[in-house]
Amino acid sequence: MSYPHQISTREQYDIAYQASIENPEAFWDSIAQNFLWKKKWDQVLKWDFVEPKIEWFAGGRLNITENCLDRHLEGHANTPALIWESNDPDEHHRILTYKELHFKVCQFANVLKNNGVIKGDRVCIYMGMVPELAIAVLACARIGAIHSVIFGGFSAQSISDRLHDAQAAFVITCDGAFRGNKAIALKEVIDDALISCQFVKRCIVLTRTRQPVSMIKGRDVWWEDEIRKVETQGNPVCKAEEMDAEDPLFILYTSGSTGKPKGVVHSCAGYMVWANYTFINVFNYQPGEVFFCTADIGWITGHSYIVYGPLTAGGTSLMFEGIPTYPDAGRFWDLIDKFKVNIFYTAPTAIRSLMSFGIEPLEGKSLESLRVLGTVGEPINEEAWHWYHKNIGKSRCPIVDTWWQTETGGIMISNMAGITPGIPSVASLPMPGILPVIVDEKGEVITTTVASGNLCIKLPWPGIIRTTYGDHARCRTNYFEAYPNLYFTGDGALRDTNGNYRITGRVDDVLNVSGHRIGTAEVENAINRHAGVIESAVVGYSHEIKGQGIYAYVIYGETTHDLNLVRQDILQTVSRLIGAIAKPDTIQFVTGLPKTRSGKIMRRILRKIAENETQNLGDTSTLIDPSVVDEIVKGKSGIK
Ligand code: PRX
Repeated sequence: MSYPHQISTREQYDIAYQASIENPEAFWDSIAQNFLWKKKWDQVLKWDFVEPKIEWFAGGRLNITENCLDRHLEGHANTPALIWESNDPDEHHRILTYKELHFKVCQFANVLKNNGVIKGDRVCIYMGMVPELAIAVLACARIGAIHSVIFGGFSAQSISDRLHDAQAAFVITCDGAFRGNKAIALKEVIDDALISCQFVKRCIVLTRTRQPVSMIKGRDVWWEDEIRKVETQGNPVCKAEEMDAEDPLFILYTSGSTGKPKGVVHSCAGYMVWANYTFINVFNYQPGEVFFCTADIGWITGHSYIVYGPLTAGGTSLMFEGIPTYPDAGRFWDLIDKFKVNIFYTAPTAIRSLMSFGIEPLEGKSLESLRVLGTVGEPINEEAWHWYHKNIGKSRCPIVDTWWQTETGGIMISNMAGITPGIPSVASLPMPGILPVIVDEKGEVITTTVASGNLCIKLPWPGIIRTTYGDHARCRTNYFEAYPNLYFTGDGALRDTNGNYRITGRVDDVLNVSGHRIGTAEVENAINRHAGVIESAVVGYSHEIKGQGIYAYVIYGETTHDLNLVRQDILQTVSRLIGAIAKPDTIQFVTGLPKTRSGKIMRRILRKIAENETQNLGDTSTLIDPSVVDEIVKGKSGIK
C-alpha cells in the first residue's frame, strides 16, 4: 500500500491517520520510500517502551545531508536553500542555493576532518544565527559527527556542564554575535567554559563581529584559515559518511524536572523522516515557497524547521540573525515583504511582545505573500491568536498551533494548514503516527472522548527520543516509567468531543518562559549556590508577555546586607551559572518555606501566592508551620 507523502485533503488525512495507527509499519514503509537511502531497511520498526529500545528503519543506511543537499542538485541546484538576513538591515542579505550550500558544507566537512573530527565524535556548536551555523551543523552530519548546538544565551558554566556530559572534544564558535544593538562576546564565554574542559582539543572560531578574542595556540584556529587550507587541497567534494539508521544524529540539551539538563539524542533516519513529513504536511509546504521560522538553531525548532525539515523538502528557509524589535518592531514584517515569505512560524511570546507595540509598526507593510502562519513552544492565548490572525494573516491565513517537544523531534499535534481546521488556542489533531492518550491521576487511560489529564503517547513515531546521552536510565525514568508502556510528555491536556487536544501546560516542575524550557530545580540550584542563601523555591506564574515568569522565594542568612543589592547579586549568580534566560522575574525574601512534615515544599501554595490568589490557598493544616504562609502573603505586598 502506498500513501501520499503530502496530504492535500481532509479525507486523505483521515485515511493516513487511520492507516498509521492500524499498521504503522506499512504506513512508514511507504513514507520512507521518499528519501535517498544507501541501503533500505530490513525492518521498519522494532520497539519496546520498557527498556526503552526503539529502532526505526532498522538496518537502513543513509546520510541525512544527501537528503538535504545532494538529491536536490539535480533540477534544483539553483534554488535558494538558505536566505540569510543580517541583524543589520543595511548589511546585504545572503542567498545560498542548494549548489552553494552543498559546496560549503562539503568544504567545512573537510575542515572538520583536517582537524581530526571523526564519525561519532561530539562537536559542540555555540554560534550566533549566521549561515555558517547551519553549515557547521550539516558538515557534522556529513561526516557522521554528532552535533550538539548550545543556544547563545547559555553561560560558560552551562556550556562546560554540557561539554563534560557529551565529552565533546571539538567546539565551533564565533568571535561574537550581533543581536539588536549589542555584540555578544561568544568566544569569551567559550574561553571561560574551556578552563574546566581540558579535554577539548580544538576550537574553530568564525569571524563575525571581529571583536578582540584570545586565540590559544594549539587549540584555537580561525574558521577562515581552515577553509583556505582545504581550498588549496583542491577537491571540495566530501563523501557523505554512510550512517546506520539508528546512529545518533545530534544531542540537544533540555531542562527537566531535576537540576541537570539532559542530552536528548535523536537518530539519523527516524528524525529525518519525521522532520520532513511534519514540515511538508503541517505547513502544506509547496515547492518554491519561502519558509521563515524565527526560532534560534540552538533550540529544537531551529533544528527541525530551519535546517532539516525545509532542506530535506528542497525548500527555501529564511534565517534571521537579529531580533524582532531591531531596528524597530516592524522588522519581521519588513522581512516578510522583502523576501516574499509564504509561511511564517514564530512563538506566542514574540506575537505578544509585538502586539504590545500596537499596529503602527505594520503600517506600509503588505504581508500579501503570506499563506500560512504558525505558532510553537507554548500555549497561545486567544487574544494573541486573534491579533495574529487579523493583523498578520489578514484573516485569510490559517494558523497552525503546533504542539511538540525537544524529545519528539518534530510536530506531534497540530492542525494542518488548509486541511484541518484551526481553533484559537487549541493544538487540535494528532499527526499521522501519533496516538495520544490522556491518563488520570491514578494512571488509568481515560477512554471517553472528552477527557482531561496527563498527556501520553501510545505508539512510537519515527522522531521519538532514543536515549538521554550517557544515561539511558534517565530516559527511562523521565519518559517511560510513570505510565507503563506509554511515553509521558510532562504536559496536561484536554480532549473535546471532536478529538481535538488543547494543551494546558506542564504538569511537572518545568517552566516555559518565553517558549524556553527551564527547570525550577535548575534555577533553585543556581540560587542556592549564591553565598548567604539558605534555601529557595522557584515557581512559575502567568506573565503577560513571556507566558510564564520565574518567581523565586529565597531564605537569605545575612541580615546585615541590603536586600535590594542582594537581589541583583542573585540575578548575577543565576546568569553566571545558567544564563540570562533563567533570571527570576521576581525574588521575594522569606524567613521560611511552607513544608510538609516530610520536608516537601508545598509549591501549590507558593504558585498561588505568586499568582496573587492569596484568598484561596487551600488546606494548609499539613504544614509544619502554617504561619509562614501568612508571612509570605504579607511580604508579597512589598515586592515590586
Ligand atoms: O509544554 C509544552 C510546550 O513546550 C514544551 C516543550 O518545550 P521544548 O522541548 O523546549 O520544545 C519547544 C518547541 C517544540 C511542551 O512540553 N509547548 C510546545 N508547543 C506548544 C506547547 N504548549 C502549548 N501549545 C503548543 N503549541
